[in-house]
Amino acid sequence: MNYIEFGTTGEQVSEMCLGTMMFGSRCDETESDRILGAAIDHGVNFIDTAAMYAGGLTEELLGRIMGSRRDNLFLATKVHKGIDAASILTSIDESLTRLRTDHVDLYLLHWPVPGMNPVEIMEALSKVVAAGKARFVGCCNFPAWLLAHCNSIAAANGWPRLVNNQVAYNIIERGIEVEILPQAVAEHIAITAYRPLAMGLLTGKYRWGQPLPDNSRGQTSSQIITWLSQYGAGLDRFIDFAAKLGVEPGVLAAAWVRYSPAVTSPIIGVSSLHQLQAGIDAFDCNLSVEEYDEITWMFDTEVKEEGLQRFPGLRYNFPRLRRNLDLLGK
Ligand SMILES: NC(=O)c1ccc[n+]([C@@H]2O[C@H](COP(=O)([O-])OP(=O)(O)OC[C@H]3O[C@@H](n4cnc5c(N)ncnc54)[C@H](OP(=O)(O)O)[C@@H]3O)[C@@H](O)[C@H]2O)c1
Repeated sequence: MNYIEFGTTGEQVSEMCLGTMMFGSRCDETESDRILGAAIDHGVNFIDTAAMYAGGLTEELLGRIMGSRRDNLFLATKVHKGIDAASILTSIDESLTRLRTDHVDLYLLHWPVPGMNPVEIMEALSKVVAAGKARFVGCCNFPAWLLAHCNSIAAANGWPRLVNNQVAYNIIERGIEVEILPQAVAEHIAITAYRPLAMGLLTGKYRWGQPLPDNSRGQTSSQIITWLSQYGAGLDRFIDFAAKLGVEPGVLAAAWVRYSPAVTSPIIGVSSLHQLQAGIDAFDCNLSVEEYDEITWMFDTEVKEEGLQRFPGLRYNFPRLRRNLDLLGK
């Protein structure tokens, strides 16, 4: 397992972050314990959870199974309820009780909420850090402008800045390439990428025109079915390409996410110990530029914009400027 600098924190985390959203829902406590143990044995020290997973059960379960291993982990959880000051200040205490720890390493706002008050929120997060309940703070699902806005408020007041944006990223969901990834590179914001397998769609077990696999999230997720109908042909090409390389499709999908220099840690979420190995193998799968490009174009999911992009000869058109990770000098 590689270790990687987590944004500006000075902390080293494993390149693989273990997601626990299925702990206490699709996998019971015994299986969750096995998954956690196997991930730690492979060198994973970065764990992601949230107050809302399984209505708090995931945090409770993690608190029980981490035991003394907690001290060696970089543990992230997320605010529950709203994101007003009172919610932030009570939610952290509830999470710490469930997790059986006196602090988390990273405390994240889970979603932006209409009508939110960034000054109040950043001040509340600063109190959480000042009380020693979180070492660092960050956000999930924030557009680039909002993260920059919150961090300018933090800077003006001497409060801790948001060091991480946790966002959906996979071969199908690529919106973050437009603003969020370039911002992350410019401002050294750690990017943790959730849903690297598009909820399991990219593991090879879903095929357009075939029955949904038994006991899978596809049985209850309308999102997976919609993607399957939209991207069935790309999925076929992707699965064939993985077979040609002799790699599991799920390994290839996560390897594609970690290829971006702007991604700090893909978050690998599994429903069973059996599934974990593919997640771990992805961190030994180094795609060539040609392989990366071929996979990327199989789905044709780049966020396209009208205008000068129609004239590829123009080097400095606006969409390219917005996406260019090398735009700024070192
Ligand atoms: N901040 C946020 O808003 C947010 C949102 C979502 C998730 N997250 C975090 O990101 C983590 C990952 O999200 P995700 O679970 O949606 O990620 P994902 O990697 O896209 O999907 C994981 C699912 O894929 C299937 N799978 C995984 N490995 C497999 C394998 N080797 N073979 C076959 N199927 C496999 C399993 O589904 P089946 O059960 O169907 O087998 C598993 O639950 C979560 O645990 C959570 O920590 C954060």
